[in-house]
Amino acid sequence: MSANNESWGSRVGLILAMAGNAVGLGNFLRFPVQAVQNGGGAFILPYLICFLLMGIPLLFVEWSLGRFGGKLGNHSTPYILDSVSKKPIWKYIGVFGIFTNIAVVAYYTYIESWTFIYVFHSIVGTFTGMGKDEISLFFDNYVGLTGSDLGIPLLPVLVYVLVMGLNVYILSSGLGGIEKVAKIGMPLLILFGLILAFRGWTMGADFATAEFPDANAWDGINFLWTPQYSSLADPKVWLAAAGQIFFTLSVGMGSIQCYASYVKANEDIALNSITAGFTNELVEIVLGSAIVIPIAAGFLGMDWVLENAGFGMAFQTMPYLFQQWGPAFSMIAGVCWFGLLFFAGITSSLAMGTPWMGFMQDEFGWSKVKGAVSFGIIALIMGLPTVLFYKYGYFDEYDYWGGTVSLVIFALLETILFAWVFGMEKGWEEITRGADIRVPSFYKWIMKYITPALLLLVLLGALFTPVGNDWTSALGSLMDGHGYELDASSLISKISNADLKAQLLSNPEDTELLEKKIFYSTLARTQLVLLFATIAGIVWYSHQKRTNRTL
Ligand code: TRP
Ligand code: TRP
Repeated sequence: MSANNESWGSRVGLILAMAGNAVGLGNFLRFPVQAVQNGGGAFILPYLICFLLMGIPLLFVEWSLGRFGGKLGNHSTPYILDSVSKKPIWKYIGVFGIFTNIAVVAYYTYIESWTFIYVFHSIVGTFTGMGKDEISLFFDNYVGLTGSDLGIPLLPVLVYVLVMGLNVYILSSGLGGIEKVAKIGMPLLILFGLILAFRGWTMGADFATAEFPDANAWDGINFLWTPQYSSLADPKVWLAAAGQIFFTLSVGMGSIQCYASYVKANEDIALNSITAGFTNELVEIVLGSAIVIPIAAGFLGMDWVLENAGFGMAFQTMPYLFQQWGPAFSMIAGVCWFGLLFFAGITSSLAMGTPWMGFMQDEFGWSKVKGAVSFGIIALIMGLPTVLFYKYGYFDEYDYWGGTVSLVIFALLETILFAWVFGMEKGWEEITRGADIRVPSFYKWIMKYITPALLLLVLLGALFTPVGNDWTSALGSLMDGHGYELDASSLISKISNADLKAQLLSNPEDTELLEKKIFYSTLARTQLVLLFATIAGIVWYSHQKRTNRTL
């Protein structure tokens, strides 16, 4: 169908690019926070089970679908799914696989731009001599959480556009550029991570002070690695674990299918997918858990971490903690930490550009440069409001709908397509063709029954999260005929902004801010819906073109 017959330069390049796609900000910023908020050792077991029962099967599904579609000249999910079933609906379900990437890249690149500027601040020593609160405030000022509405935050916009431009520049040289960045970025990231993890592991209680007498890095490590079995009965922890597995492996997004569509028809995917997936898990479990939490616990104590765990820790707390290691090592630590985050981020954001580029190249013959530049423009249109209206929750809105909900919906649908429409026999044939390992055949059964059932449970759990996230009481109350009360964070309540409206009632002093948040959340959703509709329109148009061509 298309003149697009690029393929990966080497097996190492492919694996590093795929691992780079998966290893991202999610491994270092999202994982530790999720783990702490869900009870540390209580989180790990559901997390690992989700990896085995949902993560690995989804990797198999996506790599197979990708290679299968690529053989027919299709490099993004609308026509990859169409290669499996000609029912028109699948093409439009495939829209998710372009949509999610653009919705996520919009805010993801914003975090990436923070890491970029923080490398610079670490080198020039911006934080030298600043106190803890000052460094924390520095971040708030930068992203515009403080100050008046009227001023446009010029610097963050500039840095954001610059980092987006860098992504576009690399993307415009195609797979070769992505491979090169992965080959440099991944090893450096691991080196930086090891340096920080080593420093964290060896600090023990050396930095306890009068203010934080209980500070001990080992408490952080023990907190994460002491298994607790009680969590196995708590749907809340399972939902968080499943959500993290999705985000960190980049499944349900469309970028793995796109990368895999450039794998040659009989080249192994079984071993490659497992290798890339395990690399991500190794980085997440070993390095992701060994940096922020232990280091923060080593200076401030585990109680402080439990109270303050959040995504700001990386930017608001770490630069201060590094200071305590003295001037020379504080600079090294800052460069390692923010450099690591930057490489983790860019190898993922590049992946998010490829489905759009692949689609436009397949269907409209667009060159790489045209594909990359148009991607950058759309990403900026989607993303600039997340920068400008950060404090009104624009960013969070994208993260929830684009980075959380849509992944689960798409993963469920593609698994049904693969295991039930395509059929597990043919599917197994695809997974094992050219395979360099023997895939245990019970995975056939897992993929047909367990994975879709779990995905459905995750979706239902998100739709119907009960009040206070307390499943035991809610289901009990339902059984007793006392009804079922939804939590404001359930998907159903989110649709009507019930969470913000509830806050509005209980915090009359914040009325102005909350009303703005409701306004901007509606605006953000409108933008997301328009994005989806536009891509669906382009898919429709491309289909008309294809039909005319064959008449
Ligand atoms: N897995 C990445 C992380 O852990 C995020 C990511 C990579 C992603 N590719 C994606 C998110 C595509 C959405 C779409 O940070
Ligand atoms: N929701 C996460 C938290 O606050 C933060 C987060 C969302 C995040 N998406 C992300 C962090 C992507 C890094 C990358 O814990």
